[in-house]
Amino acid sequence: MAHLWSGRFEGDPDAELFAFGSSFRFDRRLFEDDVRGSRAWAAALARAGVLSADDAAAIDRGLHAVLTAGIVDGQGDEDVHAYVERELVARIGDAGRRLHTGRSRNEQVAVDLRLYLKRRVPIVRTALAACVDALAALAGRAGDALMPSYTHLRRAQPILVAHFLLSHASALRRDVDRLDAVLREADELPLGSGAIAGTSYAIDVRALADALGFSRIARNSIDVSGDRDFVASFLHAASLGMVHLSRIAEDFILFTAEEFAFFDLADAAATGSSLMPQKKNPDPLELVRGKSGRVVGHLAGWLTTMKGLPAGYSKDLQEDKEALFDAEDTWLASLGAVASVLSGLTPNPRASSRAASGLLLATDVADYLVARGVPFRDAHEIVGRLVRRLLDQGRSFDELSLEEWREHSPLFGDDVRQAITPRASIEKKRTPQSTAPDAVAAALAETREWLEAQGS
Ligand code: ARG
Repeated sequence: MAHLWSGRFEGDPDAELFAFGSSFRFDRRLFEDDVRGSRAWAAALARAGVLSADDAAAIDRGLHAVLTAGIVDGQGDEDVHAYVERELVARIGDAGRRLHTGRSRNEQVAVDLRLYLKRRVPIVRTALAACVDALAALAGRAGDALMPSYTHLRRAQPILVAHFLLSHASALRRDVDRLDAVLREADELPLGSGAIAGTSYAIDVRALADALGFSRIARNSIDVSGDRDFVASFLHAASLGMVHLSRIAEDFILFTAEEFAFFDLADAAATGSSLMPQKKNPDPLELVRGKSGRVVGHLAGWLTTMKGLPAGYSKDLQEDKEALFDAEDTWLASLGAVASVLSGLTPNPRASSRAASGLLLATDVADYLVARGVPFRDAHEIVGRLVRRLLDQGRSFDELSLEEWREHSPLFGDDVRQAITPRASIEKKRTPQSTAPDAVAAALAETREWLEAQGS
């Protein structure tokens, strides 16, 4: 088979080395982007007077036919660019051989990847919103159920279950923002850069950018041929996105375990054990947690690949695609799995509220004293001693008589029993980001508004 560059060579490339260097196996995912970029390039060549109107029209029709036919074979092709060009020439003959005038695969692969991200990122964005939606729906189902919050994985303070769920929604919304930034970075036309030094044809790059939907034009042709920062940015967004999913997975692995039982896992979202009949394992969540490692690996791998490259294109850059595609696939599959597990969860308010009572009200006891004029540091000490006593006796605040309270401070009054409850604790919170029921209701409403706006 002749290659895009066969003229300069006397012999054929070694078959194994050619296969080693070929990227068609994976860059075939850029097929429709490559055709789209090539059709716009042919039109730009015609506008510049480089292609006759007839040739340009033949190329356009030919490329359209190549696209409609879909990928038919391509085993022997070096990459998707070679495939499309060969198929075009097979259809329209000589005119097809004029398409690559003034253009290089170095900028072509960059434009294809940017077009690819521009059409795929919105799909990931939608999957993220679906996960936020599942969290908001679960928060709705949780109603006014309480649970403990944890720091150091030790009981900290009572919170609304909905407040916990919306904390994960906040992280996923940052992932959406990060994807928007990736889109802005990808939104730049590389064409007109040639192989590295620019092109000698008077291409109207502004019009070409408009035709392909890019808002900016690349600043420097050398930079274009070696720049894959936008791939690194996507991999970073995917890595953090997977870190967030992994932490969601970890929380629900814990909170659906027998020891917590704050939520019940749907049968459909679990698997059994081949040996132990009682088991209900959260496999999908464990897999999401596990897969986060490989996406982070793609980011680390890609940064390492880029770091030693000289200015301009080097074949190393071809490694960008497998990292990008696998990160995207893994992220999308994990988002789907997490959304599905979340939508099958049932809150178990009895278990979670039970865990939200007891000594985790100690901060509220200290605040009670502060409200009666005790400096916070002194209150902390007084309550610390009280907690030590209760721990020794295996008791809790709600079991103390008024006399016992007063042994620790005369400021404790009759109202202490009503003041020191999990419900009173959350209702005393004052800030908009807090677990106060009004604040959480407003946060849930705001999340739903955000979701509405995503649909548009
Ligand atoms: N398959 C190549 C890549 O993905 C396309 C660019 C090839 N350019 C070149 N000069 N060999 O990077």
